[in-house]
Amino acid sequence: MRPLLRDAAALAVALATSRIVSAGPPAHAAASPSALRNARTAPRALESERMGLFRRMLDDVSPAYGRRGAVTASPSRQPNYRFDWTRDGALTMRQVVAELRANRDPVQRLQNVARLKAYTLFSWRKVIRSGPAGLGEPKSELSGRPFRGPWGRPQNDGPALRALTHLEFADWLLGHGEESYVKDILYTRERRTGSPITRDLDYVAPRWWEASFDLWEEKKSYHLYTRAVQHQALVLGAKLASRLGDSAGVARYTEAAHQLHKALQDHWDPQRGVLKATLPGNDHGRPTEGRTLDSAVILAAIQTYGEGAPFEITDPRILSTAHALEEAFRREYPVNRGRRGAVAIGRYPGDAYTGYDSRPGGGNPWVLTTAAFAELHYRVAREIAGGLAVTGSNRGFLQSALGDAGQLREGMRLRPGDALLAELRSRLTDKGDDYLNIIRQTEAVERAARGPRWVEALSEQINKKTGRFQGAENLGWSDSSVVSALRARSEIDTPPTRS
Ligand code: NOJ
Ligand code: NOJ
Repeated sequence: MRPLLRDAAALAVALATSRIVSAGPPAHAAASPSALRNARTAPRALESERMGLFRRMLDDVSPAYGRRGAVTASPSRQPNYRFDWTRDGALTMRQVVAELRANRDPVQRLQNVARLKAYTLFSWRKVIRSGPAGLGEPKSELSGRPFRGPWGRPQNDGPALRALTHLEFADWLLGHGEESYVKDILYTRERRTGSPITRDLDYVAPRWWEASFDLWEEKKSYHLYTRAVQHQALVLGAKLASRLGDSAGVARYTEAAHQLHKALQDHWDPQRGVLKATLPGNDHGRPTEGRTLDSAVILAAIQTYGEGAPFEITDPRILSTAHALEEAFRREYPVNRGRRGAVAIGRYPGDAYTGYDSRPGGGNPWVLTTAAFAELHYRVAREIAGGLAVTGSNRGFLQSALGDAGQLREGMRLRPGDALLAELRSRLTDKGDDYLNIIRQTEAVERAARGPRWVEALSEQINKKTGRFQGAENLGWSDSSVVSALRARSEIDTPPTRS
């Protein structure tokens, strides 16, 4: 059979049996679509799926070929992703903190605390030895030695993300009798060397306005994503500073967060009705073009969800941007043809990176951006439980989830108890599930193509024509993005915590 046909045949089987982690018998091969959905989304099935992925994600932490506490982006050598990227590592370890908060099993708690402390030690080694761009170094060797080859540097989202992971860890420790680790190690006022948290925040605070490379490591300029995670790190940093009585820290971090909040408003494009991911800037005097549509905006929204978020998750500007991105990817990727509702999502329209090299038209949907859209839908479903006003900016996004189950009109107010609100929340959840189903299908297609000896894992990309995995295999960020989405799904019916 031609590969494409074989894939299509495999897809039909896959659709009926897939789960991202085959942690139980796929018992619903012949079930009806709604029974299928129910079987897949039963809380226990989702929980075991999440735990399976979480364990797989942990394979990247302290890998056998690296120093303890290092987090490899992927074990892949072709492309070579055997490095500790500050961004990827922080996002992985942030999921470990989230697990720590949710899981009361004492043994697993001890293990997760030990993993995080190893991460702290490893990242401190990295910080001390830095490299050409100081704390803005994008990645290091897995030994902790600086990577000195050419690369897009600095990347100033890294220190902010690492600070966020440490801040959330510190918050947990303070609530669980480990105050001394926070006060003696994570956040000290030692001015000369600093400490893991203060060093990162004191890197970010005075240079929030500087151009840096974006999370995709391609453009040196001013990025919504970088600014958003910096904002949240500084807000949570100021809060910890205040708890520890560091009033000078409170002032430094609050002031910079305030400036960032103002700067973030410049990303709104009122003509196109979307948030611009990157504003024009310059790299060594050469002008850098900005970029409007980019999933980085959605990553920013979900990763900063909660306290310190510069944009509410239901902000119409976020929702209209998500809608515009989805329509662009619907048109761009052949795998999305014929798909109604959820589609496979890439980094940005016109991406050239194949996962191995870059060439015009080379880009594909990515696992982590597709999972991000699932997470966005789950979060919105949760947040609107208290009601919502339909506006010109959020209508497209909401109607696309609601489908033929109803008509939303500008100016409508949906209140708790309204049948339409309940329907909308459940359709948002279903649509969220359908993004994850695209990832589940991809894994099933791959399994069918490679045979039972294939060790299941999520790669970086999904080939836009064949629907098979592509790029770095077993990418930690792919795992952590689905873990994060599944956690968000489990929280849909718990009331949001207000800051
Ligand atoms: C490798 C980077 O990691 C990737 O994000 C980028 O698209 C390519 N290089 C091309 O610059
Ligand atoms: C390329 C991605 O663009 C970047 O965001 C990521 O940090 C590295 N790969 C490592 O996964």
